[in-house]
Amino acid sequence: MGRGQWLGVAAVCAAALTCGVAAALVSRRTAARRRWNRAVAVVRGLEEGCATPTERLRRVANSLAIEMFAGLASEGASKVRMLLTCVDALPNGSEQGIYYAIDLGGTSFRVMKLELGSGSMVVNKKVEHQPIPEELTKGSSEDLFNMIAFALKNFIEREGGSAEGKALGFTFSFPVRQASISSGSLIRWTKEFSIEEAVGKDVAQCLNEALVRNGLNLQVTALVNNAVGTLAMGHYYDEDTVASVIIGAGTNASYIERSAAITKSRCLLTSELMVVNVEWGSFRPPQIPLTPYDICFNDGTHNHYDQAFEKMISGVYLGEVARLVLQRMAQESDVFGSSMNCLSTPFILSTPCLAAIREDDSPDLRVVGRVLEQQLKIQDVPLKTRKLVMRVCDIITQRAARLAAAGIVAVLQKIGRDGTLCGTTEARKIRGEPKRSVVAIEGGLYQGYSIFREYLNEALDEILGDEIASTVTLRVMEEGSGIGAALLAASYSSTRQQHSP
Ligand code: BGC
Repeated sequence: MGRGQWLGVAAVCAAALTCGVAAALVSRRTAARRRWNRAVAVVRGLEEGCATPTERLRRVANSLAIEMFAGLASEGASKVRMLLTCVDALPNGSEQGIYYAIDLGGTSFRVMKLELGSGSMVVNKKVEHQPIPEELTKGSSEDLFNMIAFALKNFIEREGGSAEGKALGFTFSFPVRQASISSGSLIRWTKEFSIEEAVGKDVAQCLNEALVRNGLNLQVTALVNNAVGTLAMGHYYDEDTVASVIIGAGTNASYIERSAAITKSRCLLTSELMVVNVEWGSFRPPQIPLTPYDICFNDGTHNHYDQAFEKMISGVYLGEVARLVLQRMAQESDVFGSSMNCLSTPFILSTPCLAAIREDDSPDLRVVGRVLEQQLKIQDVPLKTRKLVMRVCDIITQRAARLAAAGIVAVLQKIGRDGTLCGTTEARKIRGEPKRSVVAIEGGLYQGYSIFREYLNEALDEILGDEIASTVTLRVMEEGSGIGAALLAASYSSTRQQHSP
């Protein structure tokens, strides 16, 4: 072969090689694009599954209102329990004296002392937060109540006060069948608490016994749900407060109902009004499909397919839903590289982390990168993937906040404050202008996550329309669940009754 021919062959080989490399590159890129598209498809699927257009939210509100009607008719007629609380009068500002409260329900509990002066005046307030060791949420009821009583005893001693004859409010944020204002049996645990032998027990009595064991001479005067406590505090400051909502570790609502509208358990009805603990966490909105992540997630918790509304809205769960979506993205594509072990650890992504991701407004999404690195041990995530992660957190946040808004509208609808009865000029002539409605609200998720609040308020306006929305005020009640229990203890204590006119 002559030199010219060699050169020709070499040129052909080089061209073939270049073509091969180029083809390999193209096919690698195509594969990478395909994998990226699969990650994007996961997010699109989530977006479709979580869609909450206004009309759908109206129907959700309507369904919940119907469930609420059914729940008041007879026991077990609805998934929404509509528990009668035995609270037939709310604090009105005339309460005076020193009261204690214990607030148990989330990841921490609180002990507090409240000194009240007349005219809705909190003269002095001392609150202490204590974490609840996880093993106590799954151990024995005696250990749990002992720990609480012991903490109260230390608190009173540190404060230099005396428990002698004082009234005690006990906020217990789980569904309870109330027998009186100061007693009630636990129906079931929620929010990852699971001390099975406590179910069916009178939780006020459990606490009273623990107080005796710890040498404290005081007893539970008012046993209240946190939603009821928040309503009580709201009413103490503003008599237009008609309902309350909790959006924290769990979610719930309570409101003031006419006794005439309640047909079940009539023996508990002692006056014209009764506060009802809705327990809306167990509502399953028929218009909102469970996404594969909700389903998978339900498989992993002890209260499997229950508490659907709560699992779509509240703080114990949102981070976990996001983790499951990110895990699916990692399985479908290589967006997180090979370091994805942590993504298979349940509850490793907390809701505060989800909020931090969504609220990151730095141009390079630095916070998103940091959370992925520190919480999930996923490093060097490119910007376009961080954007996708933020989108996941946004979708989950939006659905939660908008469903919570629909829940609030359902409560307003139940008491005729959503405008549907006074929308027409004719109806208005009969019923008058819509009344001002205050909804007291408490919970870390609502108070600490501004984008959640914005989405909720926006949805409320959309569902109610501007005119009615302008008559509804959401008012944050800081520490409302515990302070409200102390206020109710004040209202229902014998000392207070002696002072009453
Ligand atoms: C409980 C409610 C409570 C709510 C908010 C739910 O899991 O069932 O009783 O009010 O959490 O803490």
